Amino acid sequence: MKNFSAVILAAGAGTRMKSSLPKVTHKLSGKPLLKWVIDSVASLNPDNIVIVLNRDTEVLEESLSGKNIRIVYQEKLLGSANAVMQAEKVLKNYKDSILVLSGDVPLVRSSTLSSLVKNSKTTGASVTVLAAQVENPFGYGRIIRNGNFLEKIVEEKDAAFAEKQIKEINSGIYCFDENLWKALLKVKPNNIKKEYYITDTISILKKAGKKISLFLIKDSYEIKGINDRTELLQAENILKYKKVEELLSSGVSIVDANNIYVSYDAKIGCDTIIYPGAFIDTGVSIGKNCIIKGTNYIINSQINDSSTILYSYIEGAVIGKKVKIGPFSHIRHGSVLKENVKIGNFSETKKATIAKNSKINHLSYIGDAKIGKDVNIGAGTITCNYDGIKKHQTLIGAKSFIGSNVNFIAPVRIGQNVLVAAGSTITRNVSSGKIVIARANQEVKNKKQ
Ligand code: UD1
Ligand code: CA
Repeated sequence: MKNFSAVILAAGAGTRMKSSLPKVTHKLSGKPLLKWVIDSVASLNPDNIVIVLNRDTEVLEESLSGKNIRIVYQEKLLGSANAVMQAEKVLKNYKDSILVLSGDVPLVRSSTLSSLVKNSKTTGASVTVLAAQVENPFGYGRIIRNGNFLEKIVEEKDAAFAEKQIKEINSGIYCFDENLWKALLKVKPNNIKKEYYITDTISILKKAGKKISLFLIKDSYEIKGINDRTELLQAENILKYKKVEELLSSGVSIVDANNIYVSYDAKIGCDTIIYPGAFIDTGVSIGKNCIIKGTNYIINSQINDSSTILYSYIEGAVIGKKVKIGPFSHIRHGSVLKENVKIGNFSETKKATIAKNSKINHLSYIGDAKIGKDVNIGAGTITCNYDGIKKHQTLIGAKSFIGSNVNFIAPVRIGQNVLVAAGSTITRNVSSGKIVIARANQEVKNKKQ
């Protein structure tokens, strides 16, 4: 959808967050608030996206590059109308619709935004305000109507008692035509906060004889504003329970929805069961028929069908079908576990490819390694991959049997079908089909009487 440009206001001080970080960098389901708004707008492919930052949020500039994105700065935080004014230098010759959004209203859907823009074009209004009825209107600007018509918006702090009872609120999202710029010049800081309010453009445009209009939505969760950490938590919950509903309706079982965390972008197959304690962070896909049981943390990983994960920490891994992990395993970045692999308690893998049917059942560290099929790694096996400067590889061929408490001093290569005796420290390559014993001989001596 073209024929509109967007201005995203993100310069506000965000004092209510009580944070040293800019408010819009606070994360909702792992993604910064401002990025939620940008993604929602960008998916509609507008002509321009102008983001208004302040000098403290300058650090954000690099992370905000993208198609048609322009950054402008508000030097003094004089209010939302003054913030919008900063976009004029980019949009002054732009004649189409201008969608103004707040960087702290992250849940708005792109379909809602496109309906708002279409509606404003159809009605020909100079400003259309996105609004909704909410249970608790505290803190929001209230919609003051005259009969069926929008009259003005009054902020919580400036509202009279009767106005505070109104449950119809301003979302902080508006669609303007080019009369916006002239209206902004007329805004005065006539309010308790002595700020220039964007909301005052509504009565200004009305007085100038322009059409002003409301666009109401039913799903008021979409326009939740985040001003403090309580509202951030509420938004997290909204997103989580929406995700839970989506998963349940697609055939995933969730035993206790109150005691899991699941990111908005998780993909989970049917008949998988999520037990209490799961923390499924961003970038995770889980196949069908899996069991995710106990306190698990999973991020940026792919888990294929029919695998079981018990009480484990998994990051940056690709896990095949019918794999069993845990309890208490640490599967780190670059781990690729193929079908039917078993990783047991207190075992750690990193940058390790473990082929089909191999087992690392107890207390091992396998890093920078390639392990062939049908290998059994005994308890307490360590790949000694780091010499203090560089990392080195350990290669173990298919069907080899590694006894307990073996150290591989990498780089080292073990062939196929090798038997490594328990307690060995392997410093040199071993070719296929051999037995290797690399440990001190046991001596038994008589005790002095
Ligand atoms: C604003 C609206 C209110 C609405 C609510 C919806 C105004 C005056 N009020 O209130 O009617 O119900 O949003 O969430 O706009 N900003 C700047 N520079 C500034 C001041 C603000 O860029 O100098 C930005 C903020 O970063 C934010 C937006 O403008 O993205 C709104 O400002 P905020 O202070 O959060 O206003 P609210 O009190 O939430
Ligand atoms: Ca706000």
